Amino acid sequence: MEKEFLNKLYMKSRADRIKGLSLSNVISMEDAILLKDDLHLPAEVADHMIENQIATYELPLGVAVNFLIDQKEYVVPMAVEEPSVIAAASSAAKMINLAGGFQTTIQNRTMIGQVVLKDIPDMIFARDMVIKHQKDILQKANEAHPSIVKRGGGAKEIIIRPIAADKTFHTPSFFVIHLHIETLEAMGANIIDTMVEAIKPYLEELTNGTALMAILSNYATECLATANCRIPVWSLGKGEYTGEEVRNRIIEACQLAIADPYRAVTHNKGIMNGIDSVVLATGNDWRAIEAGVHAFAARSGQYRSLSSWSKAENGDLLGSLTVPLPIGAVGGSINFHPAAQLSKRILGYQSAKELESIIVSVGLAQNLSALKALVTEGIQKGHMGLQAKSLAISAGAIGKEVKYVADHLKQRKNMNLAAAKEILRQLKEK
Ligand code: MEV
Repeated sequence: MEKEFLNKLYMKSRADRIKGLSLSNVISMEDAILLKDDLHLPAEVADHMIENQIATYELPLGVAVNFLIDQKEYVVPMAVEEPSVIAAASSAAKMINLAGGFQTTIQNRTMIGQVVLKDIPDMIFARDMVIKHQKDILQKANEAHPSIVKRGGGAKEIIIRPIAADKTFHTPSFFVIHLHIETLEAMGANIIDTMVEAIKPYLEELTNGTALMAILSNYATECLATANCRIPVWSLGKGEYTGEEVRNRIIEACQLAIADPYRAVTHNKGIMNGIDSVVLATGNDWRAIEAGVHAFAARSGQYRSLSSWSKAENGDLLGSLTVPLPIGAVGGSINFHPAAQLSKRILGYQSAKELESIIVSVGLAQNLSALKALVTEGIQKGHMGLQAKSLAISAGAIGKEVKYVADHLKQRKNMNLAAAKEILRQLKEK
């Protein structure tokens, strides 16, 4: 990667940005041409993706720079509508680079499928039968999807989870069986659903119970990704605050998000700004990731911060983020959505595990940027320029008008849509 062409990307025109990415070898000449012509999801493809399709709903796709993850440099594509997210990720990644970038640990990618049985006449008997026939159950599951088994994956383990009746919530008892499945490079929804549906009748037979459903669980607690980082304390100083003060205030901000769910939700939303944008850009199911991540944040019984920030022995700031990330590197729209395919080429990831490392690191970077801004100058100052641009566009400004209106707006005491419209009207009257 020739990094000099990526300098101050945010100050360049879109055309020059594409040129910069091409000159730095982040994208090929073919992709540069593709981007110049604008990248669209063909109507024919969209028509076959969902039912009753009438149009495509587009989001800006941008790139965050400066990411050094496990000693490898990345330019990270992010699909997001919110201003400042990409700038924040890039600037945090730059800070994190000062002490060697992100280090990640990716758990073995084991997904969970659930078969839920009810009206079990004898729980002990049912449990014993499932334990006794474990091998047969696994074999039946694997026979339902032989191709994943041939590639080294498949159903590996069975966990029995009896759920007791709960008087407070008026819920009966359930007999839940988890199938642990290695889906390799895929997120594996189809593989998992096929397997659990295949073993459902056999489990009914073994337990004398009635199946209620069989489906994957998006709470992917066996597919965790962790990113760690260190920020030299001297680099954290901002305005009136010394590096030590900023470090301590970031740690306190995190402690607040551990203690207070109202703050934790916003804190984690900031993390998801980064995670969702990459999940979306790479063609993955962001609803699945969202649902799983928030359940994970509440695993102690209270919704808490997903990240943790602490002080290193030498005074540096240490950050860590762990989230369930059952994303895929193949399958679904990843195989045919033009932007997802471009994102794959930009990132050059070789495996789903590598993509997990990238996504969890972006989440941690996003959190650092938000916390640093919040505990120093506040969030609004850094957002002003981009907010002014958004208002200018909302007021109807196009081309060079956007910069003109945004620049004038920033000088106003009150930055709002009415003021943007007025500035645009005055410009047009000139
Ligand atoms: C805004 O999209 C995200 C933040 O609110 C996150 C946070 O408060 O930590 C800035």
